[in-house]
Amino acid sequence: MSDRVSCGALRAGDERRAVELDGWVNRRRDHGGLIFVDLRDHEGITQVVFDPQHPSFAEAEHLRNEDVLRVSGSVRRRPAGTENPRLATGDVEVAVEALEILNRSLVPPFHVNVDEDADENLRLEYRYLDLRRPRMQRNLRVRHRIVKAMRDFFDSRNFLEIETPMMIKSTPEGARDYLVPSRLYPGSFYALPQSPQLLKQILMIAGFGKYMQIARCMRDEDQRADRLVEFTQLDVELSFCTEEDVMETMESCMRYVWREALDVEVPPFVRMTHQEAIARFGLDKPDLRFGLELADVSGIFAGTEFGVFRSAIERGGAIVALRYPGGAGLSRREFDALTETAKQFGGKGMVWIALSGDGHKSSAARFLTDANVEAVRRAAAAQTGDALLLFADSAELAHAVAGKMRNEVGERCGLRDPNAFAFAWVTGFPYLEADEETGKPIPAHHPFTAPAPGDWELIDRDPMRMRAQHYDMVLNGYELGSGSIRIHKADEQRKIFEMLGLTPQQVQDRFGFFVRALDYGAPPHGGMALGIDRIVMIACAEENLREVTAFPKNQVARDLMMDAPAPVPEQLVRDLHLRIAGHDRPSSSV
Ligand code: AMO
Repeated sequence: MSDRVSCGALRAGDERRAVELDGWVNRRRDHGGLIFVDLRDHEGITQVVFDPQHPSFAEAEHLRNEDVLRVSGSVRRRPAGTENPRLATGDVEVAVEALEILNRSLVPPFHVNVDEDADENLRLEYRYLDLRRPRMQRNLRVRHRIVKAMRDFFDSRNFLEIETPMMIKSTPEGARDYLVPSRLYPGSFYALPQSPQLLKQILMIAGFGKYMQIARCMRDEDQRADRLVEFTQLDVELSFCTEEDVMETMESCMRYVWREALDVEVPPFVRMTHQEAIARFGLDKPDLRFGLELADVSGIFAGTEFGVFRSAIERGGAIVALRYPGGAGLSRREFDALTETAKQFGGKGMVWIALSGDGHKSSAARFLTDANVEAVRRAAAAQTGDALLLFADSAELAHAVAGKMRNEVGERCGLRDPNAFAFAWVTGFPYLEADEETGKPIPAHHPFTAPAPGDWELIDRDPMRMRAQHYDMVLNGYELGSGSIRIHKADEQRKIFEMLGLTPQQVQDRFGFFVRALDYGAPPHGGMALGIDRIVMIACAEENLREVTAFPKNQVARDLMMDAPAPVPEQLVRDLHLRIAGHDRPSSSV
């Protein structure tokens, strides 16, 4: 009898064991009259060897990559000098005594056994092959370990995982809803949740003091490297808590996850206010793996003749300087390219100063005095050999562009170590911000967030100055998650809706059920959600969420493997009381 073993199990001590292994042909080599097959399963790779004397040899000659085999044989040490230290099983091989071909494979459209950069759409179309690759197997294992550690952590603190429904009424998180038409109620729709926000708040009203969920969320928004239309949150809510309680809980959770799942000790998180983050790093999600702090140098140019700077200052804007370590050696062409990048980030332009040993060169040399340059150099802590990049605009835009350029410079100078983890809390956000598209004030977080305790009185006078009890967790320049203390009184919730321009009727139609629930003894509560896809992406040093998600949609929200979205039979569309406007072929006949 032979023992069933995985392809990752065998070691030198297993010599002479009779074993049976199942797996895929990772690679076949014909060498010195023998045939070697690297057999692969989810545990690893084992080399199996076919001897020409053996009856299965002829069959082995026709094996192709990704064929599925069952082999049995005996374990032997590899001949001295042929061990493979890169494989856990690399000291041994299995001399095949029986071969069964369980299935054949067509030739894959890309290499499964090497980590080559295949076209992403092809990888998504043949995702089952792509997922066989070691990198993807590793990423999904890390994902499993992270999610397990999260559940263990919250279980140890007496949180309950409660599932909330997927077909609900719209809960706005600032994106467009995915809708499900109702067959029974013509013209009515369920919405897929953008997050379980209102349901978790209602669970607090329902008396479950500590809730968590690994929650699926759907948002019909443009996909980017750090956004998917369908993603997963670690969603958490607590009753009778302060901002401090939520932050302590989430920080402890992340430090536990890093320790348990990644074997990394994370120090206590850095904390800064929103204002400080913008002033020092230009962005509310600063990448703290490196320094390069920004300097507001507006004061240095108070009386300048330089039109670009003067008009920014006159309009109440700012001039923000960024150090480019070692940047003095860049060519004019390279500075021009950097200026283009700044424009792509929304800037009007960029002034550069190269601090070489023999003085300085600059794109605005005529307007800059030596004293100006020296003052900026000191403000930005630059040295000879560095360059200085200056951005003049409204204070908000100048900081935002400088902040994005700081990340760009950090990347170019190799300061963004993919194996470093720099966590931070950003607190004290403004309650309102201008909508990116319409410019209208919208909540920086969501309308269920409580204003800072002393700021209610600003609501009628100067709402843009209100701050929120809202906190973000940031890692390596990404927003990992957001949360807040919530409004728990119905009249206060109505007041916020009113400030946002909703009529009482609109409040009733959209949020009536929720405001009513607040009226039945809602406890003070707060919580947070972290993006699990983002956490795993950073933990795996990947740059795209699709690399850590088993079956993601592509950049234009298509599932290329299943070919979704897809037309459906016309009858199904009719049953839903829908008519497809403006399309000749609205539905399929199958
Ligand atoms: P928010 O909308 O900030 O807050 O989302 C929280 C976190 O979820 C992740 N995330 C995404 N990940 C991938 N693709 C997306 N399209 C996407 N959108 C968001 C991010 C983000 O920081 N209900 C509130 C939380 C709360 O207040 O408790 C919420 O959903 O990592």
